[in-house]
Amino acid sequence: NADPRLRRVMTSLVRHLHDFAKDVELTEAEWEYAIDFLTRTGQLCSDARQEFILLSDALGLSMLVDAINHRLPEGATETTVFGPFHVDDAPERPMGANISLDGKGELCLFSGRVLDLAGRPVANALVDVWSDNEDGFYDVQQPGIQPPFNNRGVFRTGPDGRYAFRGIRPVSYPIPDDGPVGQMLTALGRHPWRPAHMHFLITAPGYDRIITHIFVKGDPYLTSDAVFGVKQSLIVDFRPVTSTTEKWQAEFDFVMRPA
Ligand code: DHB
Ligand code: FE
Repeated sequence: NADPRLRRVMTSLVRHLHDFAKDVELTEAEWEYAIDFLTRTGQLCSDARQEFILLSDALGLSMLVDAINHRLPEGATETTVFGPFHVDDAPERPMGANISLDGKGELCLFSGRVLDLAGRPVANALVDVWSDNEDGFYDVQQPGIQPPFNNRGVFRTGPDGRYAFRGIRPVSYPIPDDGPVGQMLTALGRHPWRPAHMHFLITAPGYDRIITHIFVKGDPYLTSDAVFGVKQSLIVDFRPVTSTTEKWQAEFDFVMRPA
């Protein structure tokens, strides 16, 4: 008397697994290797490292699940992978604040608006942002080396829907490649790099949350992202500026759909 959804999911999973084994005529050695690979993947998992999510990401499964579950109306901002480096307790900072606390990297002014599908500003949206530092690491990857909450912050929009903050122009970085997923990439001749990006999580009462990035136009890894996260609409021209303390500016408007 299994749950109908469970029955459907498991019937399909088993059918496809069997088809796969028949298709490649899976050897016993390959089966044993797969069991060992998955065991090592699980053994590496901890609060600080989710190797199974990394595996899902590197196989393109995370982006597929995202696409299935976020068939967006015309005009809504496209989504992409959440990634493992978000923290729930990043501080809310005053509009315009600099989130780069380690003083490294080239400063960039990020700005834009949070809008609804009709183009009206969304007030009281929380714009939660995070990026790596100039060395290609998130603060949580280097506790005791980077200041806490380096390159993170939450900004609350006012009635005009605008947000602005300073951060670094993000740099490309490799996904953690010292475990089973890294071995898989190497064995397949794939590289572990992600194109430079700034992460955004945008929430507002009455709207579906947006989990996305903006990517830096011109990055060499835009066409070979290790986790398949790039969408054309998320690539932003980082423009040089001369007059201020920042070297760069990036503008992007986010469009939310109703919950
Ligand atoms: C990100 C990092 C990862 O290791 C991953 O699998 C997916 C996304 C990221 O920080 O964007
Ligand atoms: Fe990232």
